[in-house]
Amino acid sequence: MPRALVTGGNRGIGYAMAQDLLARGCDVVIGVRDAQAGAAAAAALGCDWVHLDLEDTSTFAPAIEAAGGIDILINNAGILIEDSMVTHPKGLRRSMQVMFHAPFELILLCLPHMAQTGQGRIINVSSGWGAFDEGLEGPGGYGVAKAALNALSHALPRDLPKGVSINAMCPGWVHTRMGGQAAPRTPEEGADTAIWLALDAPANVTGKFFRDRQEKAW
Ligand SMILES: NC(=O)c1ccc[n+]([C@@H]2O[C@H](COP(=O)([O-])OP(=O)(O)OC[C@H]3O[C@@H](n4cnc5c(N)ncnc54)[C@H](OP(=O)(O)O)[C@@H]3O)[C@@H](O)[C@H]2O)c1
Repeated sequence: MPRALVTGGNRGIGYAMAQDLLARGCDVVIGVRDAQAGAAAAAALGCDWVHLDLEDTSTFAPAIEAAGGIDILINNAGILIEDSMVTHPKGLRRSMQVMFHAPFELILLCLPHMAQTGQGRIINVSSGWGAFDEGLEGPGGYGVAKAALNALSHALPRDLPKGVSINAMCPGWVHTRMGGQAAPRTPEEGADTAIWLALDAPANVTGKFFRDRQEKAW
């Protein structure tokens, strides 16, 4: 029974991911920045939760220690700050912290256990807005941060321990607080490719970018 950590698992796509992983028999812990939301979501899901605020680096090591040995890390939490990068540069800095720096630090903290067991799967939840192939669209610094996360997902395999994979995925346009009411996909549909990468994709698939279980261009 692999132990899986889903960041931002208290709502949206992360919640659906936690639900799906539990249904598949995984031992799940959600990483949540708000204690009340974390406790409520974990109780509804029937899983564990740890306090993890991706803008507060002091929470990282205690969260990973409390979570126990993580076999599957899903870097799902994200923010969409629409302000101009020029007039509101803090937005880009926050986007990079939540969607690039924090995922990298969590990977580093999870790697010793993965190296020890010789297996581990890291899934970075990205976006088509972070794909050069799709024009790096999206407002503010969102796409820049996702492009950096994509670059990490592409380059890190050369330095990962044997048996550990890392991939990026795009959930599509999903009906969540971030995606909005008009989005055509359910959170469950948005979660599907990440769950496939976590449990079903061949173990040697690494350094790639997926949408709808299909490899896509960066
Ligand atoms: N929805 C879409 O159409 C779409 C499309 C492409 C990619 N994505 C990506 O999919 C992922 C999930 O998005 P979603 O649509 O489910 O968004 P969402 O409903 O807005 O949920 C975002 C989650 O991230 C958490 N989060 C934000 N900042 C955090 C921080 N500093 N520390 C810890 N957790 C934090 C939120 O926690 P709080 O509840 O505390 O705010 C929430 O759990 C994101 O990476 C997003 O970029 C979404």
